[in-house]
Amino acid sequence: MTTDGTKHLDALVTKLKSAVAPFRDTLHEMHARYQDIREGVIANYIPELAKADPSAFAISVVSVDGQVVEVGDHQQLFSLQSISKPFVFGLALEEHGREHVLGKVSVEPTGEAFNSIVLDEKTNRPFNPLVNAGAIATSDLVEGQDFSERITRMLAMFARYFGRTVYVDNSIFMSERATGHRNRAIAHLMLNFGMIRDRVEETLELYFQQCALLVNCHDLAVLGATLANRGLNPFTGQRAIKAEYVKDVLSIMASCGMYNYAGEWAFRVGLPAKSGVSGGIVAVVPGQFGIGIFSPPLDAKGNSVRGVQVCRELSERFGLHAFEAGHQGPSLADQFRPRRS
Ligand code: DON
Repeated sequence: MTTDGTKHLDALVTKLKSAVAPFRDTLHEMHARYQDIREGVIANYIPELAKADPSAFAISVVSVDGQVVEVGDHQQLFSLQSISKPFVFGLALEEHGREHVLGKVSVEPTGEAFNSIVLDEKTNRPFNPLVNAGAIATSDLVEGQDFSERITRMLAMFARYFGRTVYVDNSIFMSERATGHRNRAIAHLMLNFGMIRDRVEETLELYFQQCALLVNCHDLAVLGATLANRGLNPFTGQRAIKAEYVKDVLSIMASCGMYNYAGEWAFRVGLPAKSGVSGGIVAVVPGQFGIGIFSPPLDAKGNSVRGVQVCRELSERFGLHAFEAGHQGPSLADQFRPRRS
């Protein structure tokens, strides 16, 4: 490339970077302010999770046209945990269709904790695919002759979303497998009611592995941006999920994604979202952005303390609430458009 060419490229990159600079400054300022929060506890019921660094903190925003603004520890790896659940639900819908899947798991918010051992009294179905019971029933719907075929299918699905190969953290997987007695109890209860097939240990292996997938905060924002982009990864252009099921995944994230905080989240933030016990949150601004937050300290409902605060502020400041009708302030979209010189 000629010197002129390089100069032109550098000028273009600087122009693009400066276009989002104000929003980057905003995220830096928010990151510094929320970094000082000391509330919350690190999950330890899965012993390996107890090793997390409480000061780790990152915010990533990815637009549907592939623009990225992120601050903090956005390359730091952690396990995906419950954030895996809505995406496996999407895979089950693709493999079996809506009615078959809803025959095994309902779509009702419970207001209960994520690991509650409750099933619908009338149908014996778990209430939704985002509580552990419903997620295990959903993992059971991932087809394949044997475990390796099933895990290969699941990993391929996540690779389409992330735009890269994803790996299981074996120490977290082993730690959860060794202590996952409550999930085992839930699984056997559902086997008893015919909600899952008689391959409990194999399905639990699949569930524990999806929870132990290693990701970073940037990946979470890409997950969200792919759903926001009607199922297409904004960087690779690859389809991660059939467009017809995007609304199903977003609906369940909107109604059940934040467990027994889902009602207040819908009221204050108003975005489809999903949290994980390792401190991740993914939120989706349909048609526009994916937002990823990583911060391990959790509140009493199992959601990242700093993550909830950041999402509330972003929603209020940029009018992101799905039912927003009176926002006067700047829009997040305007923060991203390249400035015309
Ligand atoms: O099954 C479990 O308990 C964990 N693998 C996932 C729970 C989780 O992420 C809850 N989220 N806040």
